[in-house]
Amino acid sequence: MTATPRPSGPFGFGDRVQLTGPKGKLHTITLREGGELHTHRGVLRHDALVGLPDGSVVRNSSDTEYLALRPLLRDFVMSMPRGAAIVYPKDAAQIVAQADIFPGAVVVEAGVGSGALSLWLLRAIGPQGRLVSFERREEFAEVARANAATYLGAPPANWQIVLGDLTQALPDTFRPGSVDRVVLDMLAPWECIDAVADALVPGGVVLCYVATVTQLSRVAEFIRGTGLYTEPESSETMIRGWHVDGLAVRPDHRMVAHTGFLLTARRLAPGAVPPDVRRRTVRKTAYGDDDVEVWTPGAVGDRQITDKNLRKRLRDAQRAADGARQAADARREANGTSGESA
Ligand SMILES: C[S@@+](CC[C@H](N)C(=O)[O-])C[C@H]1O[C@@H](n2cnc3c(N)ncnc32)[C@H](O)[C@@H]1O
Repeated sequence: MTATPRPSGPFGFGDRVQLTGPKGKLHTITLREGGELHTHRGVLRHDALVGLPDGSVVRNSSDTEYLALRPLLRDFVMSMPRGAAIVYPKDAAQIVAQADIFPGAVVVEAGVGSGALSLWLLRAIGPQGRLVSFERREEFAEVARANAATYLGAPPANWQIVLGDLTQALPDTFRPGSVDRVVLDMLAPWECIDAVADALVPGGVVLCYVATVTQLSRVAEFIRGTGLYTEPESSETMIRGWHVDGLAVRPDHRMVAHTGFLLTARRLAPGAVPPDVRRRTVRKTAYGDDDVEVWTPGAVGDRQITDKNLRKRLRDAQRAADGARQAADARREANGTSGESA
């Protein structure tokens, strides 16, 4: 077992550190005994950082200054290797809030993709919770595992990745009515809504994260049509940064505008039919099987990654995870601790 990098406190071996040098140039390193950062501006020894408080300024061999900070989770997910597109921090925060992810919750997620959302969910459920992430592509699951190992030192014991399609694998993994929350980030979430209804506890929340209005419409109508959930609620999140400098106070020129829509609904108790659901189902728009073609990956603009590219990203992710593991082992040996991970 490897030691878990510490999220705060003085720097130690095994910790990830983001160094900001001249002209804002960023370098992210994992502190290792004997490790050095070489740039054209000189050499910075890793052990010069050990014991310093987070947020310190250090100098390299040629007196170049670097600001040293631990990367926040939002920094890490934005720079980690990706197999599939990730959930951005702005959406992850809303997912945690709108799906009501709580400490100790039993949470299901599909698919795991690159594992960005998994890291936020793990943080929100805490060590008492349980996260099971379903993924049908093994290479993506490996990228997610490697990313979690890089960030947490090792994949945590309360996280399991199940390979396979959620619709088939969910009933084999959970008893009916035993899951608190389900988060679906996939192309066709409506295909999973029946299986999710069986797994969810009455009052439990399903949250779908979809990229296009056509997906949003289809999943909303599907959920209404089941009669098993409350009326779906939909939203999107836009965060506009501001430039605040003296009298120059204005919105940033650029922003991440569209990423996706969030839709939430709650599982009704067996047999419950709220009055407003009864009224709305009468007006529901039906979709036929032939509509499925409209949601192929190409049609909805889902960028396809080549196998070669994916293999390279997997190698990057595994290399980073190996580095983090070795550094954590070294730190554990140096400290003479058992270094059980969370
Ligand atoms: C956009 S990615 C998820 C990204 C992830 N939330 C993150 O933040 O890194 C969508 C993933 O869902 C997987 N997927 C799609 N349909 C699935 C299903 N029915 N069961 C399991 N996984 C599925 C795909 O293979 C893909 O890896």
